[in-house]
Amino acid sequence: MHVQELQDAPLAPLTTFRLGGPATRLITATTDDEVIAAVREADDSGTPLLLIGGGSNLVIGDKGFEGTALRIATRGIALEGTALELAAGEVWTDAVARTVEAGLAGIECLAGIPGSAGATPIQNVGAYGQEVSSTITEVVAYDRRTRETVVVPNADCAFSYRHSRFKAEPERFVVLRVRFALEDASGLSAPVRYAETARALGVGPGDRVPLAEARETVLELRSGKGMVLDAEDHDTWSAGSFFTNPILTDEEFAVFYARVAERLGEGVNPPAYPAGEGRTKTSAAWLIDKSGFTKGYGTGPARISTKHTLALTNRGAATTEDLLALAREVVAGVHAAFGITLVNEPVTVGVSL
Ligand code: EPU
Repeated sequence: MHVQELQDAPLAPLTTFRLGGPATRLITATTDDEVIAAVREADDSGTPLLLIGGGSNLVIGDKGFEGTALRIATRGIALEGTALELAAGEVWTDAVARTVEAGLAGIECLAGIPGSAGATPIQNVGAYGQEVSSTITEVVAYDRRTRETVVVPNADCAFSYRHSRFKAEPERFVVLRVRFALEDASGLSAPVRYAETARALGVGPGDRVPLAEARETVLELRSGKGMVLDAEDHDTWSAGSFFTNPILTDEEFAVFYARVAERLGEGVNPPAYPAGEGRTKTSAAWLIDKSGFTKGYGTGPARISTKHTLALTNRGAATTEDLLALAREVVAGVHAAFGITLVNEPVTVGVSL
């Protein structure tokens, strides 16, 4: 094989947390065939396999990974009319910039999200009113069960909030390519759906704005929350949101609401967003904040971001254990305060909360 291969390779530099021990072996694949060959070889020999894209949603244990780490470094942005095809290893922010330049709407509010294109369908990446599930038409993946390349149409991806079939069956699919249908709205964005973005743009919800303006506004909002990567800024040595926003049934929400009143006083309304029939999404960031973990919380090498309570950060000298200790403290504190158990969003390797 002419793919790049390293033994006892450090993985921390491949993650945005800059945490975790080495892998027994690290393979970097730059074509779909190289990806498939490496996966087949690992599967044939029964070697554990860890897929690494942009490393922006990964928490790797201090002991590292015993097995083959496969870095997906395929590249390719193909635009034909309003159809977009991205290689899994393509840098997501580059892809967004290209579509905005080409005057196409649909993913402009996902600007500034770190990571690779192939990772976006796995947790149905979303921000500022857009989710990739609205524009993905199909995902080309290698199916480790049937050992074949398959095309999974959107309807079979089982997309929901930060979830998909690929996340539900984690050992099965290796994403190779993601295809999107964008919209030609004569240089305008998709209708603005997020209240915060609409406010910043000075428009009403549902209005359209020039694409570049939508992208830049999102980048500014994200930067203000420490959610745009910057090697100099420790607030961005994170995995973005560390916890998903809890989705509660009506019954659970009523119990939660009573708990909020008891703790914070009558008239305090927790964030509540409709999340389908009989379900309400509340804000993990708010819960964390109101449980006493305010921005910048912590005195050790792992602390809460100074710009957003949902991001746990490595201040430079942390270990994965430091990070997990902080995460566990937050989960326990929020549970004690509000009876809600937060669930981590990043994938953990060799460790758990
Ligand atoms: N809030 C606080 N304290 C904070 C920050 C926020 O109390 O420090 C409360 C406020 O009440 C605010 C609410 O939390 O109104 C929601 O905050 P924000 O609009 O920042 O959204 P979020 O729910 O915290 C989600 C995504 C982000 C995405 C933003 C914008 C999840 C887990 N996170 O964050 O995605 O960028 O919305 O759409 O769904 C990510 O997944 O890694 C990520 C960064």
